[in-house]
Amino acid sequence: MSPTLAHDVAISAATLQRLLGPAPAIAVLLGSGWGPFAEQVQGGSDVPYAELPAFPGLAVGGHQGLVRAGSVGAKRVAVLAGRKHAYETGNADGMLGAIRSLSAWGVKLLLQTNAAGSMDAHMRPGELMLITDHLNVVQRSPLIGEPGDKRFQDMSAAYDPALRAQAKAAAAAMGTALYEGIYAWVLGPQFETPAEIRMLRAFGAQAVGMSTVPETIAARHAGLKVLALSMMTNMAAGMESEVLSHAHTLATAHSASDRAVATLAAVVQALEI
Ligand code: HPA
Repeated sequence: MSPTLAHDVAISAATLQRLLGPAPAIAVLLGSGWGPFAEQVQGGSDVPYAELPAFPGLAVGGHQGLVRAGSVGAKRVAVLAGRKHAYETGNADGMLGAIRSLSAWGVKLLLQTNAAGSMDAHMRPGELMLITDHLNVVQRSPLIGEPGDKRFQDMSAAYDPALRAQAKAAAAAMGTALYEGIYAWVLGPQFETPAEIRMLRAFGAQAVGMSTVPETIAARHAGLKVLALSMMTNMAAGMESEVLSHAHTLATAHSASDRAVATLAAVVQALEI
C-alpha cells in the first residue's frame, strides 16, 4: 500500500472509531435499490465520506456518501451508502481505501448489495440472488501495483460458505425465495449486447452487473469475509424484448426494495459473526 493511502486509511479508521465508536462486525455496502436499508438502522450516527480521507468523493447525483453505525434489531451494524464504480474512472480501486479503513477499524464482514440483470429465465425482476462466486470479466483488480506476496490473493470461497448458509436459512425462515448464482462483473456504463449476454450465460453466470467484484477482491485482501446479495432489476439484454435503461433499473429497484430491505435486515440479524 502506498504511504499516502496507508496514512489516509489510518486517519479514516481513527475517525470512524472516534465518531461512531467501536467497529460493528458487519458493514453493509448499499447498492442501487438498497438505499432504504439505511433507514432500518436505529439510533445511529453518520459520518460523511468527505470526512474520511481514504473514502471516495462521490460527486454524482447529489449523493455525497456516508457511513452510518447503529442497530438493526439487536445487531450493531455499519452501513456504507455510496459506492464509487469502475465505470466512472476506468479504475477498479475506487472503494479500496474505504474497505481497508473498515478492516483497520475492526469490521469482520463486508455484506455487499447491488442491482443486477438476470440471465436466468426463472429469476424475474425483483428477485434476490445470493452470490456464490463471480466472474471478473473485466480482468481488472484493485490490487494492481500492490507490492509483496500478499497480492496473490486466494479467491476460492470468496463468498463465505458458512455465512451464505446462514443467509439462506434466514431468508427461508421469512418465506423469501433466495436464488443462488454466479455474478459476472462488466465494466459498463453501457448495458451489454445480446451477444455478450449469450457469452456470459455460456460462461456459467446467472447475473450481470457493474460493481461488487472489485470490492470483494479488496475485502478478501484486507482480511474481511464477504457476502453479497443481488437484486434483479431487469432481464439481461436480449433475454426479452424490453429496452434497458437506468430509469427502468431504478424503477424496478424501487418497487422491489421493501422485500429486499426486509430480507437484508433478517439476514443481518441472523448472521453469527
Ligand atoms: N447489466 C449490467 N448491470 C446491471 C444490469 C444489467 O442488465 N441491471 C442492473 N445492473
